[in-house]
Amino acid sequence: MASINAQTAILPMHCKYGIFLEASLVSKDLNQFRKQLLVFNNKVEQMRSSFAGAGLGASIAFGFDAWKKLSSNVPKELRPFVPIGNAPATQRDLFIHILSLEFDVAFALAQACLEEFHGHINIEEETHGFRRLEERDLTNFIDGTENPVGDKRVLFGLIPKGDPYEYGSYVLTQRYVHHLDKWTKVPIKEQEQVIGRTKEDSIEIPPEKRPITSHVGRTDLSEDGKDLKILRQSLPYGKASGEHGLYFLAYSTSLHNIDKQLKNMFGQIDGKTDLLLDFVTPVSGSYYFAPSLLELKKIS
Ligand code: HEM
Ligand code: MG
Repeated sequence: MASINAQTAILPMHCKYGIFLEASLVSKDLNQFRKQLLVFNNKVEQMRSSFAGAGLGASIAFGFDAWKKLSSNVPKELRPFVPIGNAPATQRDLFIHILSLEFDVAFALAQACLEEFHGHINIEEETHGFRRLEERDLTNFIDGTENPVGDKRVLFGLIPKGDPYEYGSYVLTQRYVHHLDKWTKVPIKEQEQVIGRTKEDSIEIPPEKRPITSHVGRTDLSEDGKDLKILRQSLPYGKASGEHGLYFLAYSTSLHNIDKQLKNMFGQIDGKTDLLLDFVTPVSGSYYFAPSLLELKKIS
C-alpha cells in the first residue's frame, strides 16, 4: 500500500541511470504550475506503462520556500540547507529525480519534464548519474552495502501511515567532486580505514579496529538505542578524464537522521571530521521534501 502512494523514484534498487535536476521556481502563474505538476505526474505514469521493463521512476521534491508557496502546511522538519564545514548551501526550489535501467527512457522523461515546466522553472543544475561495475563509487568501494532492502526501504524511506505527511520523504542532495589523483596514492589498507569497510568485498571493519573518523564511523549512528537510518540513491557522475564524483542523494522519514550524519561528518558534534573529506569536496547542498502521490495531487 505504502509503495502505491509513494513517488516512484524513492524505493527502487539497482537503477543504472539517474538524472538529477535542481531548479528554481520562476513561475508567474502558480495555478498553471500546479496544473503542470499533474501533467508531469500523468506523463510519468504513462511512460512507466509504455516502457514497463525500463524500471522507470520519478520523484519531484520541494525546497522550504517553494513548498510554502504551494501549501499552507509545512512538513515539520523541512527547512533550507545551510553551509556546514566546507560544504556550501545551494538550496534550490525543486528537485526532480528520474531513475531507470535504460538511459534513453530516463532522458526522454527528462525532456518531457522540461517541456511541461517550460516558463515555470529554471534548471540550475543537471547531473547525469550512472552505475559503475559492482555498484562501486569512484573510490572503487562498493556503495550501498548498508542500504536497506525489502520492507526496510519503506520503513527508512517513507514517512509512516498516520502522519499528516504519510508516504512522503525528506531529501538531501549533495554533489561531491572526487580527487582521485590523491586517493589512488593511498594504500588499500589505509583506504579501508578511511571508509571503515574492506575494499574487495565491503565487509564492515569492527569499531575497535577502525578510527572513529572513518566514514562508516561517522554515519552509522544511533540515538537512545534507535539507529538513525536513511535510504541512499546516490550515483557516480562525470567524466573518466575530467571532473567526476558522487551525486549524494538520500531519502529519509526524518531530516534529523540525515542532518545528524552530516554534522558528524563535518565535525559539528565532536570536532572530528570524516577522513573521506580529505579526498572529496562538496560543491552543492539542498534539503527538499518529496510528498506522497496523494499529497502531490492535493497541491496540484
Ligand atoms: C556508507 C561512500 C557521502 C551516509 C558508505 C560506504 C561508502 C560510502 C563506500 C560503505 C558502503 C555502504 O554501506 O554503502 C560515500 C562517498 C561519499 C559519501 C564516496 C561522498 C563523496 C555520504 C554522506 C552521507 C553518507 C554525505 C550522509 C549524509 C552514509 C551511510 C552509510 C554510508 C548512512 C552506511 C553506514 C553504516 O550504517 O554502515 N558511504 N559516502 N555518505 N554512507 Fe556514505
Ligand atoms: Mg552498521
